[in-house]
Amino acid sequence: MNILLLGSGGREHALAWKIVQSHHCDQLFIAPGNAGTAAFGTNLSISVTDFETIKASCLENRIDMLVVGPEEPLVKGIYDFFQADPDLQHIIVVGPSAKAAQLEGSKAFSKQFMQRHGIPTAGYAEFTEANFEEGKAYIQQHPLPVVLKADGLAAGKGVVIATSTEMAIASFTEMIQGKQFGAASEKVVIEEFLSGIEVSVFALTNGSDYHIIGHAKDYKRIGEGDTGLNTGGMGCVSPVPFMDDLFMQKVEETIIKPTIKGLTDENLVYHGIVFFGLMNVDGTPYVIEYNCRLGDPETEVILPRLETDLVALFAAMDNGTLQDANISFDQRFVATIMAVSGGYPGDYVKNKPISIDAEIAEMKDSIVFHAGTILKDEQILTNGGRVLAVTSYGNSITEAAAKSKTALQKIHFDGMYFRSDIGFEFPC
Ligand code: AMP
Ligand code: GLY
Repeated sequence: MNILLLGSGGREHALAWKIVQSHHCDQLFIAPGNAGTAAFGTNLSISVTDFETIKASCLENRIDMLVVGPEEPLVKGIYDFFQADPDLQHIIVVGPSAKAAQLEGSKAFSKQFMQRHGIPTAGYAEFTEANFEEGKAYIQQHPLPVVLKADGLAAGKGVVIATSTEMAIASFTEMIQGKQFGAASEKVVIEEFLSGIEVSVFALTNGSDYHIIGHAKDYKRIGEGDTGLNTGGMGCVSPVPFMDDLFMQKVEETIIKPTIKGLTDENLVYHGIVFFGLMNVDGTPYVIEYNCRLGDPETEVILPRLETDLVALFAAMDNGTLQDANISFDQRFVATIMAVSGGYPGDYVKNKPISIDAEIAEMKDSIVFHAGTILKDEQILTNGGRVLAVTSYGNSITEAAAKSKTALQKIHFDGMYFRSDIGFEFPC
């Protein structure tokens, strides 16, 4: 099979690493990819939302399967674009239809979906310019902290956890009247704050059957001890110690099964991965959000643990045999630590040369996944805020994270920063 993978982050490098291990994969193409993915296939300089050029490339390279990394092309309808085109219909697309991708693309859609299917989530209300004053009154009487969410995609910046009513009203006004995120904040969801530990669970589904392909806890804040600004994710660990059989059973019975049944009942076409962003509130799981794709850096820990052939799983999802698939996991713990550009998640400078000591290749329990990197004249340069993720295996989370920290000592670029406390709540 020839496979085209869309995206350019650490998630896509991890996907490329896993996909080429499959004997079903003949040739891999990555659009646009990064300096790391180039080692596993052919990088194509195509934007993930340029559907016409993606089509031309699929025909030219005889693509059989399209794996979509990021959410934007899914929310913009790449699945439907392929289904509607007689030249592309035969290609297996791993990702939901645009309508189903609204689970990520619209917070209001996902909250209404959860309400219709009795899926536990924070209580909420939604507001637009039309009921702006009502929204202010709702905030005035809301307990603190209160959570505000721009309805649409806002590059991970659309959520505000307000600790004062004044802050909440200022954010609400900025989102709706100041059009802070353009059309994405024309509608705002205001919801209860849930206090607990977050965990992400990933299921592969064809809209009626599903398999859990992994779970992870990510570390979103820039600073040690979970302090400072939110980022795209500074590290991840898997498996998570509190995800025992009892908790997993609650997740499956109260969240995953009703979600998949909801997709079936509402004819929401879904051939891909559902990312359940959960909060463990005193042993009870609640949905914080759905995403319609794999996470980054979650992918950098869940794929190294997944022993099963991922391409075979994607094909089984497509041909209706997913329920027959056997899934197995490496029993070791895995941790990934993200090295970021100085200044991230604020302003940072790109194009810093990266050097990786050759001896890192000898570290058999560690894998370097590129995220924001680019190759120019044989030199790897930084090309984003999150630059590289170093994943390691260990007999405990502490050991896995320690190996990643050792490997990170062998990677150098000007301004490089990483959190040295990934997995801190799970010492052993
Ligand atoms: P989202 O963009 O929905 O993933 O939200 C970003 C982050 O905000 C989540 O990962 C949580 O850390 C936090 N968050 C979102 N909603 C809530 C909530 N209702 N209660 C507590 N934290 C939340
Ligand atoms: N790490 C969170 C995400 O991929 O959305």
